[in-house]
Amino acid sequence: MSNKVQSQIAAALLAWYDAHARVLPWRAPPGAPAADPYRVWLSEVMLQQTQVATVMPYFDRWTARWPDFASLAAADDAEVMSMWAGLGYYARARNLLKGARAVVADHGGRLPGDEAALLTIPGIGAYTAAAIAAIAFGRRAVVVDGNIERVVSRLFAIPTPMPAAKPAIRAATDAITPDARAGDFAQAMMDLGSGICTPRNPKCLLCPIAASCTARAAGEQERYPVKLPKKARPVRYGTMFWLTSGADVWLVRRPDKGLLGGMRGLPSGPWLAEAPGLADAPVAADWRMLPAQAEHGFTHFTLVCALAAARWDGQTAPGEGEWWPIDDIESAGLPTVFAKAARAFRESDACGG
Ligand code: ADE
Repeated sequence: MSNKVQSQIAAALLAWYDAHARVLPWRAPPGAPAADPYRVWLSEVMLQQTQVATVMPYFDRWTARWPDFASLAAADDAEVMSMWAGLGYYARARNLLKGARAVVADHGGRLPGDEAALLTIPGIGAYTAAAIAAIAFGRRAVVVDGNIERVVSRLFAIPTPMPAAKPAIRAATDAITPDARAGDFAQAMMDLGSGICTPRNPKCLLCPIAASCTARAAGEQERYPVKLPKKARPVRYGTMFWLTSGADVWLVRRPDKGLLGGMRGLPSGPWLAEAPGLADAPVAADWRMLPAQAEHGFTHFTLVCALAAARWDGQTAPGEGEWWPIDDIESAGLPTVFAKAARAFRESDACGG
């Protein structure tokens, strides 16, 4: 591909972005020098595994509570984890807090602008460093997320299956990334991927770079990125325990390390290949199994949980944890898997009270 074609792709894409950029709360308008690095950093972390529409209300609540690195660095860990509840991949919230504290301790409360320095901050990996350098600081950086992978693999009809195609996709993205406006270019590619170059039924008639697209020329847009057949996700089994006392339910905080680390949850033993029944009950009580189960899809497995309910008649607390009003369970900051189970318990007659 000639340099001329490469620069034509960037020019066409940027002109399209000037007219059609999505207005998003962390963005500067097209062509503006730069956006607030704190907001860019936060949005990029939130958007790593989560859709824009889901992220928006979380982003607004978060920035209203903690508008900058200094306020986030001083935040209470448990409140940060609660604010994240429902977004999934909770290590991201723990890393945001670590990152904010490092920015305050080591960088005077401001993010550095170059990728190498950004990479030294906890929670910032190659993708996030490139995105921040380009979007918040206007540096030339090669930004490749899932949407951009799809656009570029189609543009150049890259035949290698994912994830082995990643280096080729990165090299091709590098070849078309302009020196100026690299942040707008990256976000234009993201917008193109999310609204036009969609996984199915891409809207090629509206695409500003359709004329350069090899996959389209061959009528094979949906073939790319090439994927190998998916392995079935394994199933793991567990039991969640709903222990009530009057109108309250017993909640525990999960260990910092491991899945959903540091989050509030219902008591539950390890999640295993075989259903554990009542083996991991938090206390001896008159446990009753509900007919319903709770199911949740994690990245690497599907969880199926039995639901066991009992009332607590003891005088002392049943261990380490806290009683929480069942009517106010929404404010406990439960990850989705526990929120689903809590709903099932409440819909049964296991509520106590
Ligand atoms: N996904 C990841 N980063 C994004 C951004 N800056 N704009 C839109 N979608 C995104």
